[in-house]
Amino acid sequence: MLKALILSGVILIMCALTPLGGAQQNKVDEQGHEWYHHAVFYEVYPRSFADSNGDGVGDLKGITSKLDYLEHLGVDAIWITPCFPSPQVDFGYDVSDYEAIDPMYGTLADFDTMVAAAKKHNIKIILDFVPNHTSDQHKWFLESKSSKTNPKRDWYIWRDGKGPGKPPNNWTSTFGGSTWTLDPTTGQYYYHYFYAQQPDLNWRNPEVHKAMLDCMRFWYKRGVAGFRLDAVDTLFEDPDLKDNPLLPGKDKFGFSNENEIYNKKLPEVHDVMRDMRKLADEYGAVLIGETWTQNVAQLNEYYGDHNDELQMPMDLMLTQFHALAAPPFREHISALEDAGGWPVFVISNHDITRSYTRWGGGAHDDQIAKLAATMYMMLRGTPIMYYGEEIGMANNDPKRKEDVQDPQGRRGWPKEIGRDGERTPMQWTDGANAGFTSGKPWLPIGSNYKTHNVATETADPNSILNLYRRVIALRREESALRDGKYFAVNPRDPNVFAFVRTDGRESILVALNMSASAQSVKLDLKAAGVVAAASKKVMLSTSGDGAIAADGTVKMEPYSVVVAKIGQ
Ligand code: NOJ
Repeated sequence: MLKALILSGVILIMCALTPLGGAQQNKVDEQGHEWYHHAVFYEVYPRSFADSNGDGVGDLKGITSKLDYLEHLGVDAIWITPCFPSPQVDFGYDVSDYEAIDPMYGTLADFDTMVAAAKKHNIKIILDFVPNHTSDQHKWFLESKSSKTNPKRDWYIWRDGKGPGKPPNNWTSTFGGSTWTLDPTTGQYYYHYFYAQQPDLNWRNPEVHKAMLDCMRFWYKRGVAGFRLDAVDTLFEDPDLKDNPLLPGKDKFGFSNENEIYNKKLPEVHDVMRDMRKLADEYGAVLIGETWTQNVAQLNEYYGDHNDELQMPMDLMLTQFHALAAPPFREHISALEDAGGWPVFVISNHDITRSYTRWGGGAHDDQIAKLAATMYMMLRGTPIMYYGEEIGMANNDPKRKEDVQDPQGRRGWPKEIGRDGERTPMQWTDGANAGFTSGKPWLPIGSNYKTHNVATETADPNSILNLYRRVIALRREESALRDGKYFAVNPRDPNVFAFVRTDGRESILVALNMSASAQSVKLDLKAAGVVAAASKKVMLSTSGDGAIAADGTVKMEPYSVVVAKIGQ
């Protein structure tokens, strides 16, 4: 009896010490995998997802109303791009208050309702945290710029110029022009890697560090399961402000290209990642990084030497492949496999031309969209989808400068047209405004909405949407796809990218014809340890019956896919 009382006391104390929020479902499986390793993530751009009040801009209530849809699709977690108060110069990436919801999107109560509703749908909420910079309207910056002696002066990066009209150094903003803007009140320049309305925080100041981690804690306590971290590689700058070496040529805004060695990817970034990870671990939360890298070795650094940084640094490299072709895709996946991290696949997002447009060429666009879906849902790793990808939304780029909303496009037109094209409203129906809003949508609806929308595609068994549902379900059902090893098949084939996923019990072949012509390929499955090549069961085919003959031959239509169980 006494023992039972002590035990229940211990349990009660342990419960009281367990932080609220995302920690509850933090189970590790036999392979040591956490929930996010097997999850499907889905990026929601809140302005464009679903508008509940007819003002032409999406909102949180709109997202809540679509949770049934997302659950049915098979999504486990949604990442919502910034929905905090913001002047919207960079559509939310200029945050003026990290601990509230922009009234345009709703209220904190709407947020709590969304989190609770999402939980009922087994969907976790990931927010977008913007650590590098605030809005110039954030109270911290308003204080900081008010005088040189303000206690928040050192929360941002202020420096004297080199002389009249001369900024402190040659660094140029990724959004065009100098990274320095002169503030007339104090006669000093402040630093901004992005727009002038997005001043960089000074992460060398411990007060900034603490304040920002407190903001994260605020949301963990409200039940968020993690964060996507914006622009992590820009957090630190060389304290001596050394000029970056110039590279040949000009950027899209007409400024000299430079090698950003002094204001990007500084080693101190990793200290912050480690601290953020410690905090995330307190809440069982996941950190996803916006980690732009040139190669897999660079990407690997973001996991941390002791796996103590980001659990999910995004591999954004596939988005830079401008055409489908088996050899480079295979090579990239091999490099990821050799590196040993848990890959995080992204094929589109709100800054990049949609994959449907990037990889499509006209005649085979829907087939290509299905191929892309099959590829990244069946590789070893975690996929992060972008809203609308599952229905084949295409880019709808502005045709005239006066129509452009994204300041990047207004500034860089016509070489840089901005990112409006990939941010158009979600296409729900073939009706007015594609069912997105009863008002005037903030961006024009994509041109293929009559055929590529949720309602129409739900009714069509061969649609892109139903293929996504199928491949996501397969991922969930088949342990070989969740945890199995990866083996490249026919590694020199110039047209068909094929691989086997095997967990020792089951082997699943995935063949992707990345060419515009029909192929007949004899698969050599010995390297994958498979003796009998013939398909036991074709699980998915966009190419006739998809059967694999006893000698390993499979016939594939242009850009088709075959997924089959093989082996004994
Ligand atoms: C990356 C975000 O994805 C992009 O939309 C934004 O403009 C920049 N970071 C600046 O926050």
